[in-house]
Amino acid sequence: MIKCGIIGCGVISPTHLAGYKSIADADPVFFCDLIPARAEKLASQVSGGRCFTDYRQMLNDPELSAVSVCTDHASHGEIVAAAISAGKHVICEKVSGRTAEDLELMLKSAAEHPEVVASGIFQHRFNPGNIALKNLIASGLLGKLLTVNLNFACLRTNAYYENDPWRGTVAGEGGGVLINQAIHFLDQLRFLFGDVRRVAALSGNLTHQGVIEVEDTVAFTAEFTGGLMVTVNATNSAFAKWRSALTICAARAQLEFIDEKLTYLDAADSDAAAIRNALECNADPAEVHGKTYYGTGHTAQLADFIDAIKDKRMPQVTLADAANSAAFVHAVYESCATGSWVELRHF
Ligand SMILES: NC(=O)c1ccc[n+]([C@@H]2O[C@H](COP(=O)([O-])OP(=O)(O)OC[C@H]3O[C@@H](n4cnc5c(N)ncnc54)[C@H](O)[C@@H]3O)[C@@H](O)[C@H]2O)c1
Repeated sequence: MIKCGIIGCGVISPTHLAGYKSIADADPVFFCDLIPARAEKLASQVSGGRCFTDYRQMLNDPELSAVSVCTDHASHGEIVAAAISAGKHVICEKVSGRTAEDLELMLKSAAEHPEVVASGIFQHRFNPGNIALKNLIASGLLGKLLTVNLNFACLRTNAYYENDPWRGTVAGEGGGVLINQAIHFLDQLRFLFGDVRRVAALSGNLTHQGVIEVEDTVAFTAEFTGGLMVTVNATNSAFAKWRSALTICAARAQLEFIDEKLTYLDAADSDAAAIRNALECNADPAEVHGKTYYGTGHTAQLADFIDAIKDKRMPQVTLADAANSAAFVHAVYESCATGSWVELRHF
Protein backbone atom coordinates (compact mmCIF):
# COMPACT_ATOMS: atom_id res chain seq x y z
CA MET A 1 0.00 0.00 0.00
CA ILE A 2 1.44 3.38 -1.00
CA LYS A 3 0.77 6.09 1.58
CA CYS A 4 -0.06 9.33 -0.21
CA GLY A 5 -0.39 12.96 0.79
CA ILE A 6 -1.83 16.15 -0.61
CA ILE A 7 -0.07 19.51 -0.18
CA GLY A 8 -2.58 22.31 -0.77
CA CYS A 9 -6.14 21.38 0.20
CA GLY A 10 -8.09 23.96 -1.85
CA VAL A 11 -10.38 23.72 -4.87
CA ILE A 12 -8.67 20.92 -6.84
CA SER A 13 -7.64 18.78 -3.85
CA PRO A 14 -10.92 16.79 -3.49
CA THR A 15 -10.42 15.58 -7.07
CA HIS A 16 -7.03 14.14 -6.04
CA LEU A 17 -8.46 12.62 -2.88
CA ALA A 18 -11.31 10.98 -4.82
CA GLY A 19 -8.79 9.65 -7.33
CA TYR A 20 -6.50 8.12 -4.69
CA LYS A 21 -9.47 6.64 -2.81
CA SER A 22 -10.50 4.76 -5.94
CA ILE A 23 -7.03 3.24 -6.46
CA ALA A 24 -6.57 -0.06 -4.60
CA ASP A 25 -2.83 0.42 -3.91
CA ALA A 26 -3.11 4.03 -2.70
CA ASP A 27 -3.80 5.09 0.87
CA PRO A 28 -4.27 8.87 1.06
CA VAL A 29 -3.77 9.82 4.72
CA PHE A 30 -1.44 12.88 4.80
CA PHE A 31 -2.92 16.35 4.28
CA CYS A 32 -1.17 19.71 4.47
CA ASP A 33 -2.47 23.26 4.12
CA LEU A 34 -1.48 26.61 5.57
CA ILE A 35 -5.15 26.89 6.57
CA PRO A 36 -5.68 24.00 9.05
CA ALA A 37 -9.45 23.66 8.44
CA ARG A 38 -8.84 22.81 4.77
CA ALA A 39 -6.53 19.89 5.61
CA GLU A 40 -8.87 18.76 8.39
CA LYS A 41 -11.83 18.66 6.01
CA LEU A 42 -10.05 16.21 3.69
CA ALA A 43 -8.61 14.20 6.60
CA SER A 44 -12.12 13.69 7.97
CA GLN A 45 -13.00 11.79 4.79
CA VAL A 46 -10.48 8.97 5.33
CA SER A 47 -9.59 6.67 8.18
CA GLY A 48 -6.37 7.64 10.02
CA GLY A 49 -5.99 11.00 8.26
CA ARG A 50 -3.14 13.21 9.55
CA CYS A 51 -2.93 16.99 9.20
CA PHE A 52 0.00 19.37 8.80
CA THR A 53 0.47 23.09 8.20
CA ASP A 54 4.19 22.79 7.36
CA TYR A 55 4.82 20.70 4.25
CA ARG A 56 8.48 20.14 5.25
CA GLN A 57 7.36 18.47 8.46
CA MET A 58 5.00 16.24 6.48
CA LEU A 59 7.77 15.35 4.00
CA ASN A 60 9.97 14.24 6.93
CA ASP A 61 7.54 11.47 7.83
CA PRO A 62 9.08 8.14 6.72
CA GLU A 63 5.62 6.58 6.21
CA LEU A 64 4.76 9.05 3.44
CA SER A 65 5.68 7.73 -0.04
CA ALA A 66 3.98 9.99 -2.58
CA VAL A 67 2.50 13.49 -2.72
CA SER A 68 0.21 15.54 -4.90
CA VAL A 69 1.22 19.21 -5.02
CA CYS A 70 -2.01 21.24 -5.34
CA THR A 71 -0.82 24.68 -4.21
CA ASP A 72 -0.78 28.02 -6.03
CA HIS A 73 1.68 28.41 -8.90
CA ALA A 74 4.31 30.42 -7.00
CA SER A 75 5.12 27.53 -4.67
CA HIS A 76 5.31 24.69 -7.22
CA GLY A 77 9.08 24.90 -7.81
CA GLU A 78 10.05 25.00 -4.15
CA ILE A 79 7.60 22.31 -2.95
CA VAL A 80 8.21 19.87 -5.81
CA ALA A 81 11.98 20.20 -5.39
CA ALA A 82 11.70 19.69 -1.61
CA ALA A 83 9.48 16.60 -2.03
CA ILE A 84 11.87 14.99 -4.51
CA SER A 85 14.90 15.79 -2.30
CA ALA A 86 13.05 14.12 0.59
CA GLY A 87 12.75 10.99 -1.58
CA LYS A 88 8.97 11.29 -2.07
CA HIS A 89 7.34 10.50 -5.39
CA VAL A 90 5.56 13.63 -6.57
CA ILE A 91 2.82 14.67 -8.98
CA CYS A 92 2.27 18.42 -9.32
CA GLU A 93 -0.82 20.15 -10.67
CA LYS A 94 -0.15 20.81 -14.36
CA VAL A 95 2.98 21.96 -13.67
CA SER A 96 2.30 25.72 -13.70
CA GLY A 97 5.69 26.95 -12.47
CA ARG A 98 5.63 30.71 -13.10
CA THR A 99 9.18 31.02 -14.35
CA ALA A 100 11.94 29.05 -16.05
CA GLU A 101 13.80 29.16 -12.70
CA ASP A 102 10.88 27.37 -11.00
CA LEU A 103 11.01 24.64 -13.65
CA GLU A 104 14.81 24.37 -13.46
CA LEU A 105 14.65 23.99 -9.66
CA MET A 106 12.28 21.01 -9.80
CA LEU A 107 14.00 19.36 -12.78
CA LYS A 108 17.43 19.68 -11.12
CA SER A 109 16.04 17.90 -8.07
CA ALA A 110 14.48 15.19 -10.27
CA ALA A 111 17.79 14.66 -12.11
CA GLU A 112 19.57 14.17 -8.77
CA HIS A 113 16.98 11.59 -7.65
CA PRO A 114 16.23 9.33 -10.63
CA GLU A 115 14.70 6.75 -8.25
CA VAL A 116 11.83 9.16 -7.54
CA VAL A 117 8.77 9.16 -9.83
CA ALA A 118 8.03 12.79 -10.75
CA SER A 119 5.11 13.89 -12.87
CA GLY A 120 2.82 16.79 -13.75
CA ILE A 121 -0.98 16.62 -14.01
CA PHE A 122 -2.26 17.07 -17.54
CA GLN A 123 -5.32 14.91 -17.09
CA HIS A 124 -6.88 15.51 -20.51
CA ARG A 125 -4.16 13.35 -22.07
CA PHE A 126 -5.99 10.43 -20.47
CA ASN A 127 -9.34 11.24 -22.17
CA PRO A 128 -10.22 8.40 -24.55
CA GLY A 129 -11.13 10.92 -27.30
CA ASN A 130 -7.70 12.59 -27.13
CA ILE A 131 -5.93 9.22 -27.21
CA ALA A 132 -8.00 8.12 -30.23
CA LEU A 133 -7.21 11.38 -32.06
CA LYS A 134 -3.49 11.06 -31.29
CA ASN A 135 -3.51 7.50 -32.66
CA LEU A 136 -5.42 8.63 -35.77
CA ILE A 137 -2.85 11.37 -36.45
CA ALA A 138 0.02 8.92 -35.93
CA SER A 139 -1.60 6.43 -38.36
CA GLY A 140 -1.05 8.88 -41.27
CA LEU A 141 -4.65 8.49 -42.47
CA LEU A 142 -5.20 12.25 -42.47
CA GLY A 143 -2.23 12.86 -44.78
CA LYS A 144 0.14 15.77 -44.24
CA LEU A 145 -0.98 18.10 -41.45
CA LEU A 146 -1.21 21.69 -42.69
CA THR A 147 -2.92 23.99 -40.18
CA VAL A 148 -4.55 23.73 -36.76
CA ASN A 149 -6.70 26.28 -34.96
CA LEU A 150 -7.57 26.07 -31.29
CA ASN A 151 -10.17 28.46 -29.92
CA PHE A 152 -10.76 28.37 -26.16
CA ALA A 153 -13.26 30.47 -24.22
CA CYS A 154 -14.37 30.47 -20.61
CA LEU A 155 -15.55 32.92 -17.99
CA ARG A 156 -13.65 33.94 -14.87
CA THR A 157 -15.53 36.67 -13.03
CA ASN A 158 -14.06 39.49 -10.93
CA ALA A 159 -15.27 37.56 -7.85
CA TYR A 160 -13.20 34.51 -8.92
CA TYR A 161 -10.09 36.68 -8.83
CA GLU A 162 -11.00 38.67 -5.73
CA ASN A 163 -11.71 35.58 -3.59
CA ASP A 164 -8.13 34.23 -3.75
CA PRO A 165 -5.29 36.74 -3.48
CA TRP A 166 -2.80 34.70 -5.55
CA ARG A 167 -5.00 34.63 -8.65
CA GLY A 168 -4.53 37.31 -11.28
CA THR A 169 -1.13 38.41 -9.94
CA VAL A 170 2.28 38.16 -11.56
CA ALA A 171 3.88 36.97 -8.31
CA GLY A 172 1.21 34.42 -7.38
CA GLU A 173 -0.27 33.06 -10.60
CA GLY A 174 2.42 34.12 -13.08
CA GLY A 175 -0.16 35.00 -15.72
CA GLY A 176 -3.87 34.82 -16.44
CA VAL A 177 -5.95 32.74 -18.81
CA LEU A 178 -2.93 31.18 -20.51
CA ILE A 179 -1.07 29.77 -17.49
CA ASN A 180 -4.17 28.70 -15.60
CA GLN A 181 -6.96 27.64 -17.97
CA ALA A 182 -5.61 27.48 -21.54
CA ILE A 183 -2.44 25.61 -20.51
CA HIS A 184 -4.50 22.42 -20.80
CA PHE A 185 -5.04 23.10 -24.50
CA LEU A 186 -1.40 24.02 -25.10
CA ASP A 187 -0.55 20.67 -23.55
CA GLN A 188 -3.17 19.01 -25.77
CA LEU A 189 -1.53 20.56 -28.85
CA ARG A 190 1.89 19.23 -27.77
CA PHE A 191 0.37 15.81 -27.01
CA LEU A 192 -1.26 15.61 -30.45
CA PHE A 193 1.24 17.40 -32.70
CA GLY A 194 4.64 17.23 -30.98
CA ASP A 195 7.20 19.90 -30.19
CA VAL A 196 6.79 23.61 -30.81
CA ARG A 197 9.59 25.48 -32.58
CA ARG A 198 8.59 29.17 -32.10
CA VAL A 199 5.69 31.46 -31.23
CA ALA A 200 4.50 35.02 -31.93
CA ALA A 201 1.81 36.36 -29.60
CA LEU A 202 -0.20 39.27 -28.27
CA SER A 203 -2.29 39.56 -25.14
CA GLY A 204 -4.48 42.01 -23.26
CA ASN A 205 -6.63 42.59 -20.24
CA LEU A 206 -9.94 43.25 -21.96
CA THR A 207 -12.54 42.97 -19.18
CA HIS A 208 -10.73 42.67 -15.83
CA GLN A 209 -9.05 46.08 -15.63
CA GLY A 210 -8.37 47.16 -12.05
CA VAL A 211 -8.92 43.56 -10.90
CA ILE A 212 -5.98 41.55 -12.31
CA GLU A 213 -2.39 42.43 -13.26
CA VAL A 214 -2.22 39.80 -15.99
CA GLU A 215 -3.89 38.93 -19.30
CA ASP A 216 -7.43 37.66 -19.75
CA THR A 217 -7.11 37.23 -23.52
CA VAL A 218 -4.32 35.90 -25.77
CA ALA A 219 -3.90 35.22 -29.48
CA PHE A 220 -0.83 33.58 -30.97
CA THR A 221 0.72 31.76 -33.88
CA ALA A 222 2.99 28.77 -33.36
CA GLU A 223 5.20 26.85 -35.74
CA PHE A 224 5.58 23.22 -34.72
CA THR A 225 8.57 21.05 -35.55
CA GLY A 226 7.86 19.67 -39.02
CA GLY A 227 6.26 22.91 -40.21
CA LEU A 228 2.69 22.56 -38.90
CA MET A 229 1.16 26.06 -38.55
CA VAL A 230 -1.04 26.59 -35.49
CA THR A 231 -3.13 29.53 -34.32
CA VAL A 232 -4.59 29.78 -30.83
CA ASN A 233 -7.11 32.19 -29.28
CA ALA A 234 -7.88 32.01 -25.56
CA THR A 235 -10.00 34.20 -23.34
CA ASN A 236 -11.56 33.96 -19.91
CA SER A 237 -13.82 36.97 -20.52
CA ALA A 238 -16.35 35.09 -22.63
CA PHE A 239 -20.03 34.37 -22.23
CA ALA A 240 -19.18 30.66 -22.58
CA LYS A 241 -18.57 28.76 -19.35
CA TRP A 242 -15.91 26.48 -20.88
CA ARG A 243 -15.59 25.63 -24.59
CA SER A 244 -12.77 24.50 -26.84
CA ALA A 245 -12.98 24.28 -30.62
CA LEU A 246 -10.22 22.49 -32.51
CA THR A 247 -9.96 22.56 -36.31
CA ILE A 248 -7.44 20.36 -38.10
CA CYS A 249 -6.79 20.89 -41.80
CA ALA A 250 -4.80 18.05 -43.34
CA ALA A 251 -4.12 17.06 -46.94
CA ARG A 252 -6.73 14.27 -46.92
CA ALA A 253 -9.30 15.53 -44.40
CA GLN A 254 -10.64 18.47 -42.46
CA LEU A 255 -11.95 17.83 -38.94
CA GLU A 256 -13.57 20.02 -36.30
CA PHE A 257 -14.06 19.14 -32.65
CA ILE A 258 -16.03 20.95 -29.95
CA ASP A 259 -14.93 19.92 -26.45
CA GLU A 260 -13.15 16.92 -27.99
CA LYS A 261 -16.27 15.66 -29.84
CA LEU A 262 -16.10 15.41 -33.64
CA THR A 263 -18.59 17.92 -35.09
CA TYR A 264 -17.44 18.17 -38.71
CA LEU A 265 -15.56 15.87 -41.07
CA ASP A 266 -14.79 16.34 -44.75
CA ALA A 267 -12.86 13.53 -46.47
CA ALA A 268 -13.21 11.02 -49.30
CA ASP A 269 -15.97 8.52 -48.46
CA SER A 270 -13.58 5.62 -47.88
CA ASP A 271 -11.32 7.71 -45.59
CA ALA A 272 -14.29 9.24 -43.72
CA ALA A 273 -15.54 5.84 -42.59
CA ALA A 274 -12.08 4.86 -41.35
CA ILE A 275 -11.60 8.21 -39.59
CA ARG A 276 -14.97 7.97 -37.82
CA ASN A 277 -14.14 4.42 -36.85
CA ALA A 278 -10.75 5.45 -35.43
CA LEU A 279 -12.39 8.19 -33.35
CA GLU A 280 -15.12 5.92 -31.99
CA CYS A 281 -14.74 5.74 -28.20
CA ASN A 282 -16.39 2.77 -26.62
CA ALA A 283 -14.86 3.28 -23.18
CA ASP A 284 -17.35 3.25 -20.29
CA PRO A 285 -17.88 6.83 -19.13
CA ALA A 286 -15.79 7.32 -15.98
CA GLU A 287 -16.99 9.25 -12.95
CA VAL A 288 -16.22 12.99 -12.86
CA HIS A 289 -14.79 14.19 -9.53
CA GLY A 290 -15.05 17.98 -9.32
CA LYS A 291 -16.12 20.43 -12.02
CA THR A 292 -17.35 18.88 -15.27
CA TYR A 293 -14.59 20.48 -17.32
CA TYR A 294 -11.88 18.86 -15.17
CA GLY A 295 -12.99 15.71 -17.02
CA THR A 296 -12.34 12.21 -15.78
CA GLY A 297 -8.60 12.07 -16.38
CA HIS A 298 -7.29 12.79 -12.87
CA THR A 299 -8.12 9.31 -11.61
CA ALA A 300 -6.56 7.66 -14.67
CA GLN A 301 -3.43 9.78 -14.34
CA LEU A 302 -3.10 9.19 -10.59
CA ALA A 303 -3.51 5.43 -11.25
CA ASP A 304 -0.66 5.63 -13.78
CA PHE A 305 1.44 7.54 -11.20
CA ILE A 306 0.85 4.84 -8.55
CA ASP A 307 1.56 2.06 -11.09
CA ALA A 308 4.79 3.81 -12.10
CA ILE A 309 5.89 3.83 -8.43
CA LYS A 310 5.05 0.12 -8.03
CA ASP A 311 6.64 -0.90 -11.33
CA LYS A 312 9.67 1.43 -10.92
CA ARG A 313 9.06 2.97 -14.36
CA MET A 314 8.56 6.44 -15.80
CA PRO A 315 5.02 7.87 -15.60
CA GLN A 316 3.16 8.55 -18.86
CA VAL A 317 3.58 12.29 -18.24
CA THR A 318 7.13 12.89 -17.03
CA LEU A 319 8.01 16.03 -15.08
CA ALA A 320 10.14 17.23 -18.03
CA ASP A 321 7.24 16.70 -20.44
CA ALA A 322 4.89 18.67 -18.18
CA ALA A 323 7.56 21.36 -17.77
CA ASN A 324 7.73 21.67 -21.56
CA SER A 325 4.03 22.64 -21.62
CA ALA A 326 4.81 25.29 -18.99
CA ALA A 327 7.76 26.41 -21.13
CA PHE A 328 5.33 26.77 -24.09
CA VAL A 329 3.28 29.16 -21.89
CA HIS A 330 6.43 31.07 -20.88
CA ALA A 331 7.47 31.48 -24.53
CA VAL A 332 4.06 32.94 -25.42
CA TYR A 333 4.39 35.42 -22.53
CA GLU A 334 7.88 36.39 -23.65
CA SER A 335 6.60 37.04 -27.16
CA CYS A 336 3.73 39.16 -25.76
CA ALA A 337 6.28 41.22 -23.83
CA THR A 338 8.82 41.62 -26.62
CA GLY A 339 6.59 41.68 -29.69
CA SER A 340 8.99 39.23 -31.36
CA TRP A 341 9.05 35.59 -32.38
CA VAL A 342 10.36 33.47 -29.49
CA GLU A 343 12.08 30.10 -29.97
CA LEU A 344 10.98 27.47 -27.48
CA ARG A 345 13.26 26.07 -24.84
CA HIS A 346 12.94 22.28 -24.43
CA PHE A 347 13.73 20.57 -21.14
N1 LIG B 1 -5.95 20.13 -13.53
C1 LIG B 1 -7.01 20.93 -13.39
O1 LIG B 1 -8.02 20.78 -14.10
C2 LIG B 1 -6.97 21.99 -12.33
C3 LIG B 1 -8.16 22.61 -11.91
C4 LIG B 1 -8.08 23.57 -10.89
C5 LIG B 1 -6.84 23.94 -10.36
N2 LIG B 1 -5.70 23.35 -10.84
C6 LIG B 1 -4.37 23.71 -10.31
O2 LIG B 1 -4.29 23.27 -8.95
C7 LIG B 1 -3.48 24.16 -8.20
C8 LIG B 1 -4.27 24.68 -7.02
O3 LIG B 1 -5.40 25.37 -7.51
P1 LIG B 1 -6.70 25.57 -6.60
O4 LIG B 1 -7.73 26.18 -7.48
O5 LIG B 1 -6.99 24.32 -5.87
O6 LIG B 1 -6.13 26.70 -5.59
P2 LIG B 1 -6.64 27.05 -4.13
O7 LIG B 1 -6.16 28.42 -3.83
O8 LIG B 1 -8.10 26.74 -4.00
O9 LIG B 1 -5.86 26.00 -3.22
C9 LIG B 1 -4.48 26.08 -2.99
C10 LIG B 1 -4.25 25.70 -1.52
O10 LIG B 1 -2.84 25.60 -1.30
C11 LIG B 1 -2.60 26.07 0.01
N3 LIG B 1 -1.18 26.41 0.12
C12 LIG B 1 -0.51 27.40 -0.52
N4 LIG B 1 0.80 27.38 -0.19
C13 LIG B 1 0.95 26.33 0.66
C14 LIG B 1 2.07 25.80 1.35
N5 LIG B 1 3.28 26.34 1.25
N6 LIG B 1 1.87 24.73 2.16
C15 LIG B 1 0.63 24.18 2.28
N7 LIG B 1 -0.47 24.64 1.63
C16 LIG B 1 -0.31 25.71 0.85
C17 LIG B 1 -3.53 27.26 0.17
O11 LIG B 1 -3.76 27.58 1.52
C18 LIG B 1 -4.78 26.74 -0.54
O12 LIG B 1 -5.68 26.11 0.36
C19 LIG B 1 -3.03 25.26 -9.17
O13 LIG B 1 -1.80 24.89 -9.71
C20 LIG B 1 -4.08 25.22 -10.26
O14 LIG B 1 -3.61 25.70 -11.48
C21 LIG B 1 -5.76 22.38 -11.78
